[in-house]
Amino acid sequence: MRNTFAPMEGITIYCYRNTHHKYFGEGLDYYYTPFLSVYKHHSIKKRDMREILPENNADNGLRIIPQIMANDSDEIIWALNYLHERGYDEINLNMGCPVGTVVSKNKGSGMLSDPDRLYEIFSRVFEDKITNEIKFTAKTRLGLTDPHEFENILPVLNKFPFAAVIIHPRVRTQMYKGTPDMEMFKWAYDNSTNPVGYNGNIFVPQDYDNIINNYPDLYEIMMGRGLVANPALAREIIGGKEMSLDELKGFMTDLEKNFKIEIPADESIMHKMKEIWFYVGNLLVTKDGAESEPLIHKIRTAKNIAEYRNAVRNVYRECAMKGHDNKTS
Ligand SMILES: Cc1cc2nc3c(=O)[nH]c(=O)nc-3n(C[C@H](O)[C@H](O)[C@H](O)COP(=O)(O)O)c2cc1C
Repeated sequence: MRNTFAPMEGITIYCYRNTHHKYFGEGLDYYYTPFLSVYKHHSIKKRDMREILPENNADNGLRIIPQIMANDSDEIIWALNYLHERGYDEINLNMGCPVGTVVSKNKGSGMLSDPDRLYEIFSRVFEDKITNEIKFTAKTRLGLTDPHEFENILPVLNKFPFAAVIIHPRVRTQMYKGTPDMEMFKWAYDNSTNPVGYNGNIFVPQDYDNIINNYPDLYEIMMGRGLVANPALAREIIGGKEMSLDELKGFMTDLEKNFKIEIPADESIMHKMKEIWFYVGNLLVTKDGAESEPLIHKIRTAKNIAEYRNAVRNVYRECAMKGHDNKTS
């Protein structure tokens, strides 16, 4: 069973992945790229290309799985070949993105609306010899509005030899809210002919243990927000130590430096860092045991770099790491 860092558009870009791997790679086997948009005329968006360039992924031992977003068999086959030629031997298809502009083009979770069309797409893709040369996996939700839609989707996926089907057991309308539907997940786990991966709401090691105890034959556990909120989560899961404040400082400082490679404007980097603070702020309490939220709020509402730096300095000065027992899932 392997542990992976989920694709997260705007967050797990290469700068983030490299920094994360340097500090907290322990316990993680692979990092997914955020989805790469594949265009009809056979190209990948220029900005997305930077996610897969070897020089941006050169960190020792870092293993990457590119994720593509496409809903046409020719585009998918082209992208699989293109990425394979660039050294990638595993590629994932996004069948879960819930964003309106994606779904309206029948991409992401929009692909789930028509199982017959899904069958047509994969019939053509799996006829192509590239699928013998690489591992092709899918990341899917249960459906658009009703989890039982998966009863018509899984049989289609079962007709094809995916290297894995990673299931985020929510429907599109839930976005990232509500609890994963574990009843439907169990049905899928029992009935999938392909190896199954699980994704959703793993925030503390106990959440992870519950999943592997209930589903011991899983191929993969993919973690997203839990890892962004606690970058040392995978290390803790394999029995390693919790994060220290020094590690958090080192990680956040390096992250900011690495974002500079990709994002020229200081204001834009600040915006990105604020987004990360939104997640990691939960790891902290003030030294006298009070909520850190008012201090984190100052970071998130900083109007300029000077205010931002000041607010960050305050957090480092006033806060300590929360004890493990204080963390809630
Ligand atoms: C900000 C954000 C960006 C995301 N971007 C992607 C993406 O590019 N591709 C994808 O398949 N899922 C994407 N997801 C979904 C996550 O990969 C994951 O399925 C979801 O967050 C549930 O897992 P978690 O509870 O471990 O976070 C994104 C989620 C968030 C919150």
